[in-house]
Amino acid sequence: MIEIKNVSKSFPQNYQDEHLSILNQISLDIREKEFVSLVGPSGCGKSTLLRILAGLLKPDEGDVFVDGKRIEGPDSSRFVVFQDYVLFPWMTVWNNIALGLKVKKYKKEELHRKVSWAVELVNLKGFEKSYPHQLSGGMKQRVAIARALVMNPEILLMDEPFGALDSFTRMKLQDELVSLCRKKDFTTVFVTHDCDEAVYLSDKVVVFSGSPAQIREIVDIDLPRPRDRTSPEFIGIRNHILNVSCAAGAEGGGTPEKNGEDEGLSNEKPI
Ligand SMILES: Nc1ncnc2c1ncn2[C@@H]1O[C@H](COP(=O)(O)OP(=O)(O)OP(=O)(O)O)[C@@H](O)[C@H]1O
Ligand SMILES: [Mg+2]
Repeated sequence: MIEIKNVSKSFPQNYQDEHLSILNQISLDIREKEFVSLVGPSGCGKSTLLRILAGLLKPDEGDVFVDGKRIEGPDSSRFVVFQDYVLFPWMTVWNNIALGLKVKKYKKEELHRKVSWAVELVNLKGFEKSYPHQLSGGMKQRVAIARALVMNPEILLMDEPFGALDSFTRMKLQDELVSLCRKKDFTTVFVTHDCDEAVYLSDKVVVFSGSPAQIREIVDIDLPRPRDRTSPEFIGIRNHILNVSCAAGAEGGGTPEKNGEDEGLSNEKPI
């Protein structure tokens, strides 16, 4: 369904002519309804690839196709959930979730039906009139997920959506996401630093090495769901991904270093 073909991306550095290569000839196929996690060292380009899939960024080279059509820009069939929720603080839970439907000028009854469905789906019934500051981190993240699901996306792109949460809330939301994926048919591309989370959720884990990012290994996970994090099979796969990730990080992954001279940044004082 999603075909990433030889995608490369570089960014200009410090407003100079110099460009830093972030993604280098990435090719990856993602099947319909598949749950794919992207893991790799910080700064290797996972979010950049996700933004390209969302149509928010254009690759310098290569193409991304969805059902055979080249991605030319953002589209409501693809929805991104970011780590920091990005809720509107002056809007209630209900209005935050309803916003996309209002922009698309849905009729009142249809909008009401869809928002009620989404509120129930993410277990936020009773909190419709609350404002974001009255919610816990996990609840805010559920609002962000509901806001995405209410648009009925074919592809859900999630960039470390549970990264800011404590491990208990995180595991709870992971379970909710697994059951959401069962109830609703969508394809998910999920960025995480957490190998345990990747194995728990995914059909396939793509491990990137960095500077510039390349695919180091694609690990298929065919364990039955719900998965048992303590089973030897689970632990074996998780350890394998951890080892590959560590090797990928050690071989020059992480935030890419600038080519050329060190400009003495280490002498700079924090502002
Ligand atoms: N708009 C931009 N302009 C210049 N450089 C950018 C831009 N966006 C990202 N970068 C650089 O591209 C590299 C990859 O960034 P990206 O956010 O994709 O990494 P990541 O793998 O998601 O990292 P993390 O795991 O820390 O979130 C980083 O070195 C970053 O500084
Ligand atoms: Mg990122």
